Amino acid sequence: MAKVLDGKVAVITGGSSGIGLAIAKRFASEGASVVIAGRRKSELDAAVASIGGDVDAVQADVSKLADVQALYDFVRNRHGRVDIVVANAASGVFAPLGEITEEQFDQGFGVNVKGTIFTVQTALPLLSQGSAVILTGSSISVKGVASLSVHSATKAAIRCLARSWILDLKGKGVRVNVLSPGPTRTPALLSLAPPEHEQALLDSVAVNVPLGRVGEPDEIAKAAVFLASDASSFVNGVELFVDGGLAQI
Ligand SMILES: NC(=O)c1ccc[n+]([C@@H]2O[C@H](COP(=O)([O-])OP(=O)(O)OC[C@H]3O[C@@H](n4cnc5c(N)ncnc54)[C@H](OP(=O)(O)O)[C@@H]3O)[C@@H](O)[C@H]2O)c1
Repeated sequence: MAKVLDGKVAVITGGSSGIGLAIAKRFASEGASVVIAGRRKSELDAAVASIGGDVDAVQADVSKLADVQALYDFVRNRHGRVDIVVANAASGVFAPLGEITEEQFDQGFGVNVKGTIFTVQTALPLLSQGSAVILTGSSISVKGVASLSVHSATKAAIRCLARSWILDLKGKGVRVNVLSPGPTRTPALLSLAPPEHEQALLDSVAVNVPLGRVGEPDEIAKAAVFLASDASSFVNGVELFVDGGLAQI
């Protein structure tokens, strides 16, 4: 039986963990050839083993243009084109106003905004007609949360990028959408508390979510398959919240 991403070539930054890893697994199981990128080789190797199918890993820091160029050099040599880009790698910054450092600002905007911009811009020469670009946003782009102002500003910026990029790419047959998870059970979220307080952390986050729980990475991945596939062929420039309703209240 035909799979929805049969024959597609997908690049997923931050594809070695959490949401990016779940997306890589879904894409591969739907027939896509997948290239994941991340900084840690050990995580990339483990991810390749767990994803299965046609998957490659490239060690790259998306905040460094040379790394992003090397990523797409690999993709060009291996596949000759890209059909799906998931700009998903991000770095969280936690600091209240009054304690935000220049380093934290540079890190948050360097990975989340600069990294997203060059992950997409560098892909342009390789993007095929009918391709799909997915930017991982966050429900926090429209919420106020103490100590997360820099992080939420980077995610609001990502939403703004998509609005303008669909005009820059007008008539080119490339769709750009933002996929915005709510709190999702990933290493990034779980790292906010010691293991013994993991459940308390998840419970405290879930209390704000209308569905009453945090999301699972695969629930975000299923929405990514929708945005990557022909099922969303006329969906362009949206921010799709996959957050149990959090951003709507
Ligand atoms: N989990 C949530 O509750 C939640 C909620 C809303 C939005 N999101 C968004 O979902 C996305 C994935 O988050 P996650 O929770 O799945 O995080 P995660 O489990 O920590 O995974 C992050 C991934 O990004 C990679 N990465 C980080 N910095 C990078 C860099 N500079 N260059 C290349 N790769 C980099 C990491 O690998 P290396 O560290 O090896 O580079 C890893 O593969 C992010 O955009 C995040 O903001 C998550």
